[in-house]
Amino acid sequence: MLLLEGKVAIITGGATGIGRAIADNFSAKGAIVVIADLSEDADVCCDVASEAQVDAMVSSVIGRHGRLDIAVNNAGILGPFGKLLEHVEEAEWDRALGVNLKGVFLCMKHELTAMSGQGGAIVNIASVAGFLAAPKNPAYSAAKHGVLGLTKGAAVQYAARGIRINAICPGLVDTGMAATIATDDSMPDFPKPFVPMGRMAAPAEIAEVAAWLVSDNASYLTGEAIGVDGGWRIV
Ligand SMILES: NC(=O)c1ccc[n+]([C@@H]2O[C@H](COP(=O)([O-])OP(=O)(O)OC[C@H]3O[C@@H](n4cnc5c(N)ncnc54)[C@H](O)[C@@H]3O)[C@@H](O)[C@H]2O)c1
Repeated sequence: MLLLEGKVAIITGGATGIGRAIADNFSAKGAIVVIADLSEDADVCCDVASEAQVDAMVSSVIGRHGRLDIAVNNAGILGPFGKLLEHVEEAEWDRALGVNLKGVFLCMKHELTAMSGQGGAIVNIASVAGFLAAPKNPAYSAAKHGVLGLTKGAAVQYAARGIRINAICPGLVDTGMAATIATDDSMPDFPKPFVPMGRMAAPAEIAEVAAWLVSDNASYLTGEAIGVDGGWRIV
């Protein structure tokens, strides 16, 4: 029996990067995976910042598979990286928070409705920026701090209903998003000295933690935010 045998899973932002690695990993572990993404490569096209689209996406999964057991709310954008806060436009703030925080709320809202009465497991992909300052990107950090608050509050609400809700807080992961950060001129040796391991994570290293977290092997774990960051947060 595979770890996630027969479980129906939504992965938002699963067309590339960390979400793609999670989708591949869950499929290899026996899950029936639905990728929801802005990209046309997705199983369901969906902007997580739109409630109508999120509602339609979750409904289509239930229509196709009859149930929802797992959701990984991973879709995210970097937003206004490298700007002093006074130069961040209202529209940039709204989009950064709209995708990275409201998007997680909207997905959880409809996923929880779908899981109601049967149980399930949700993982939200936050960031080390959910714990630490992100001096190059306060809007991103604000959203990721918000994701951790949302995760904890919802975890308490749904603990006795058989739905576990946790977060993963990756450090720097080798994806398109990280390329922008890693090539920033003001941090030539990045990820040194921030990351004791001195390297980025591979997306698969985040996916492995996600698989364990949504599996029954993590059955007593809820409301937790797990750093997967090569030691970034301890220095
Ligand atoms: N890469 C890193 O270093 C890093 C570190 C910490 C946290 N994260 C977080 O991990 C998650 C995935 O990041 P990544 O590095 O794989 O990024 P990525 O840019 O490689 O992939 C993001 C995916 O999300 C999709 N997406 C973006 N906006 C969307 C929307 N509104 N609706 C639906 N899909 C949307 C994109 O199309 C893309 O497929 C994000 O939440 C990000 O904040 C990334």
